[in-house]
Amino acid sequence: AEVKHYDWDVEYMYWKPDCVEHLVMGINGKFPGPTIRAKAGDTVQVNLTNKLGTEGLVIHWHGIRQINTPWFDGTASISQCAIDVGESFVYNFTVDRAGTYFYHGHFGMQRSAGLYGSIVVDVADGEKEPFAYDGEVNLLLSDWWHESVHEQEVGLSSKPFRWIGEPQSILINGKGQYNCSLGAKFLNDSARSCSDTEMSPQCQPDIQSVDQNKTYRVRIASTTSLASISFVIGNHNMTLVEADGNYIQPVSVDSLNIYSGDTYSVLITTNQDPSTNYWISAYQIARKPPLPPPGLTILNYKPNPVSDTPLSPPPTSPEWNDFAGGKSFANKILALKSIPKPPTKSDRLNTQNTINGYVKWAINNVSLVLPTTPLIGSLKFGLKNAFDGKSPAEDFPATYDIMKPPVNPNSTYGNNLYNFDYNITIDVIIQNANILSANVSEVHPWHLHGHDFWVLGYGDGKFSEENDGKNLNLDNPPLRNTVVIFPHGWTAIRFVTDNPGVWPFHCHIEPHLHMGMGVVFAEAVDKIKTIPDGVLTCGLTAKNSGPVGGSS
Ligand code: C2O
Ligand code: CU
Repeated sequence: AEVKHYDWDVEYMYWKPDCVEHLVMGINGKFPGPTIRAKAGDTVQVNLTNKLGTEGLVIHWHGIRQINTPWFDGTASISQCAIDVGESFVYNFTVDRAGTYFYHGHFGMQRSAGLYGSIVVDVADGEKEPFAYDGEVNLLLSDWWHESVHEQEVGLSSKPFRWIGEPQSILINGKGQYNCSLGAKFLNDSARSCSDTEMSPQCQPDIQSVDQNKTYRVRIASTTSLASISFVIGNHNMTLVEADGNYIQPVSVDSLNIYSGDTYSVLITTNQDPSTNYWISAYQIARKPPLPPPGLTILNYKPNPVSDTPLSPPPTSPEWNDFAGGKSFANKILALKSIPKPPTKSDRLNTQNTINGYVKWAINNVSLVLPTTPLIGSLKFGLKNAFDGKSPAEDFPATYDIMKPPVNPNSTYGNNLYNFDYNITIDVIIQNANILSANVSEVHPWHLHGHDFWVLGYGDGKFSEENDGKNLNLDNPPLRNTVVIFPHGWTAIRFVTDNPGVWPFHCHIEPHLHMGMGVVFAEAVDKIKTIPDGVLTCGLTAKNSGPVGGSS
């Protein structure tokens, strides 16, 4: 195995992700950040320098489980102190498993500011993927607002509450077009073609050139702040083979429903009419219109010119509220035979969400806030004053009507910290409820750090132990690190606490997390090994542990 070393400077810069100039967070002068490419078993080292000027910085490696290195998970207030302005910090971890991943900021709403990039892990030398392909296409999906992330944050925390609204643009590999469309000639109303002058190289579509009659692995990762995406490649069926770094039973689909935090690989064969190019399109779905126009780029069949507009119009979007389609897609994802099966017994805890007066999301009526001292340090060194040690509820009232706005909309703040012993099995039923307004429940993709979990099932309405509990899929549930909950529905997951660390479990919608939609799982904290220097340089750990983080 090799060591892959990267030196990254993170700073704000002027950029035109969708042809309109705004500030973005760039890495080494680029947006999105550089792709990390390694082989399973390699060590990745990232020497990160904060050149943001006025704010702290961390980066989370989404999907990398950080086995034995929970302090390099890159979550501010949980696994480490934010890196101060002008300082550097070296992340040093193993990428133990092949797959498609990504990285992103995990302090405040820095992901929304554009701090992200791809991670691709190939199989170790001598190993083979369970499918074959001739080439690769790598796509990172995101959404983009013209309002600055600081303004978004302040709005969300203000009274009256100011919602960020829908994104202005959907980006593919960091590129989108705001005021014009690549597909203009097919769209009636006012859609206009993009002129050469407005299409700065920063927003020109990242065209994917392919040879004819070959099989390509298309890797897709979604780091959207909010948007759920319907992803289509015009005229091409896709065979799903990987989800969140785990192999799945190959299944053919014509579109993918991708939620924030999901990653997939699909195989396509370039066997369509070779005289034209094809659209790659990413529509926002699952929220009420008006929604932004699709992110578009082109699958270029060589030797056609890259600039050739496809002969057929861009694929159309499904209805925004086609949740039946979303569920049927979700239920198609099943584990490949070689994937370990879940244990059949478990402890169980329920979570749910409601809203409060300052608008917040809450889990069992507690809205997540994070302490100044990173939890990994407070827990390891027993600094009881550094956090709120209240055990959050394991359940919510049996009488709670998830179809109605909460009867008691007043939540409290808390660290939502669940303490788990080593090697026990945890089931979580994530129960989706109605928001403060009547007849509305939203989609939330939940992501767990430090783990994959088995997705045991999805259902409508309120989870019933008696009926639903018996019908969970214990046979071939897929392993994932992110899973969606549908409006007014539930999702059941299971994992084993075999990775000592302090791991957030939260909605991957950036403004929802900011509004408190998350919990923290502290797992076998007595088994966390010596925390390296430089991780705990803030709060009470800085004062109490002398030379930072060194001793236990
Ligand atoms: Cu990709 Cu806690 O996030
Ligand atoms: Cu959410």
